[in-house]
Amino acid sequence: MRLPADVTLQHGSKRKFEGEDQAPEEDTETPAVRPSRPHVKNHRRKRPRVLPSSQKQLQLHHVGGDYEIETVPLPALHHPEELLIEVKSIGLNPIDWKAAAYGYGIPSFPCVYGREFVGKIVAKKETEADDLKVGDTVLAISTDYRDYRKAAFQEFAISSAFNVLRVPETISTETISGMGVAFVTATLSLGVCLGQKFFMKKSGKELDLCLLAQTQQEHEVPEDVRDVVFNGIPTAERAQIGDWLLIMGASAISGQIAVQLAKMCGMRVVAVVDTKRHKERLENLGADLVVDRHNLEESAEIIRKETKGEVRLGLDTIGRETAIWCESLLLQNAPKKETPKDGQRSHLVCLASGPKQPHPQVRSHQLPIKLFHTNPEIGRTLSSWMYELLDSKAIKLIEVDVVEGGLKAVNQSLGRLRRHEVSGKRIVVNMGEGRSRTKRLRRS
Ligand SMILES: NC(=O)c1ccc[n+]([C@@H]2O[C@H](COP(=O)([O-])OP(=O)(O)OC[C@H]3O[C@@H](n4cnc5c(N)ncnc54)[C@H](OP(=O)(O)O)[C@@H]3O)[C@@H](O)[C@H]2O)c1
Repeated sequence: MRLPADVTLQHGSKRKFEGEDQAPEEDTETPAVRPSRPHVKNHRRKRPRVLPSSQKQLQLHHVGGDYEIETVPLPALHHPEELLIEVKSIGLNPIDWKAAAYGYGIPSFPCVYGREFVGKIVAKKETEADDLKVGDTVLAISTDYRDYRKAAFQEFAISSAFNVLRVPETISTETISGMGVAFVTATLSLGVCLGQKFFMKKSGKELDLCLLAQTQQEHEVPEDVRDVVFNGIPTAERAQIGDWLLIMGASAISGQIAVQLAKMCGMRVVAVVDTKRHKERLENLGADLVVDRHNLEESAEIIRKETKGEVRLGLDTIGRETAIWCESLLLQNAPKKETPKDGQRSHLVCLASGPKQPHPQVRSHQLPIKLFHTNPEIGRTLSSWMYELLDSKAIKLIEVDVVEGGLKAVNQSLGRLRRHEVSGKRIVVNMGEGRSRTKRLRRS
C-alpha cells in the first residue's frame, strides 16, 4: 500500500477486487492502526481497511477507439484538500463519448475519462476538509479533465474536497450521480455568463457568482476564461427578475436544471424541445412557454408573439446550428430604442459550439467551467449550494437509466448516448460486477 502516513483510512467493508491479490478486510470502527488486545477473549479485533495496491481503470489509447480495461496502481493523494474515493456509480456525460470519438478534451494518451461519480471516501489527508469524513458517501464532480487521477472511469479516484458534496440521505446515490456536471454548467451559465443573482435560503444570503468570479485575482482565474469572466456581461445587461430566458435543448440535463434555477430567480423561461417527448416534463419543471424544436420557424413566431419580442437572454445546449437560430431570434427580439432597456445587448451562452462570427449585438459566451475546479472558493460555493438545493428538495431530481456491470458496461452505454438513444435523462453505471442490465429510476 502506497498511501502516505498521514492519511485516514475508511471503515472497512468486505469487498473483493476482481483479479487482485488482496489482504482480507474486516469491519473496523477506528481508523488508526491500534495495538492488538489478546487479553480480551472473543473480542473481534478491528483492523483498518486494507486498500488494494492496484485497481481497474478504463483507458483510451487513440481517438476513435473504445475505452479499454487496464490494471494500474491506485491514484495518490497530492494536496492537503484531496480525498481518495472508492467509486460506486458513474454518471455518463456527452463529453465522455465525444472525447473518445473526436478527441475533444484529451491532453495525452493513454487517457482516463469520466466526469462525475458517487463514491465513498476511503482516505484523506488529516489536515484539511474536516467537514468530510472517511466513510462519507459523496458526489464528486470531476471537471478537471487534465488530472487523470480525478477521472470517474476507475475503481478509485481523487477529488478536491471543494468539488464534492455529501449525498443527502433521502436521495438515491444513483440518481444524483449524473447531476453534478449539469448543475455546475447551469449555475455558471446563469450566474456568471448571464449575471443572474441567486438566493441561498439557508444562509439568507444572495449569491452573486458574476461578482464572486470578477473579484478573484487574475492568477486565480485560468487564462482562457479570463475574457468571459472579467469582460463578460456588463452590470446594466445582467439578468433581472421577470426577464425572459430562451433555452434551446431544454430537455438536456443541463437545460432541465437551468429551467429550475431560472424560475427560482423569478425569470420567465421559453423551452425549445421535442414537444412530443418533453412538453409535459418541461412544464412540470416550470417553463412558461414550451415550443417545438422540429419546427423552428413556427416556434420563432410563437415566441415573438407570446413574449412580445422581449427575449434578450439565451442558452443553447445543442450546437452551432441551433446557436445561430438562437442568435437570430435574440437579435429580432432585441429591445427597440424607445423601450426602457434601451441599448442593452443580448447574451447567448453556447454549451457546445457557438456562431463562428457572432453578431455584435448578441454577445456569445463560452462556459468558464474551469472556475469550478481551479478556484476553491467558487468550487466550494457551488458544491455546498447544490447540497442545500437537493437536501431541501428545492431542485427536482433527474430521470436516470441505471446500468449494472461496472467499467465493462461503459463503452456500450456511451454507444447509446452517441446514437442519441437517450433523451431527457442520464445513464448511470453501477460499479458492481453483476451482469449488465438496466433499470429506470424516475424523477421524484
Ligand atoms: N462547455 C462546457 O464546459 C460544457 C459543460 C457541460 C456540457 N456541455 C455540453 O452541453 C451539451 C448539453 O449537455 P447535457 O449533458 O446537458 O446534455 P444531455 O442531457 O446529454 O442532452 C443531450 C441533448 O441533445 C439533444 N439531442 C438528442 N439527439 C439529438 C440529435 N439527433 N440532434 C441534435 N440534438 C440531439 C437532446 O434533445 P432531445 O431530448 O430533444 O432528443 C438533448 O437536448 C452537450 O453538448 C455537452 O457536451 C458543455
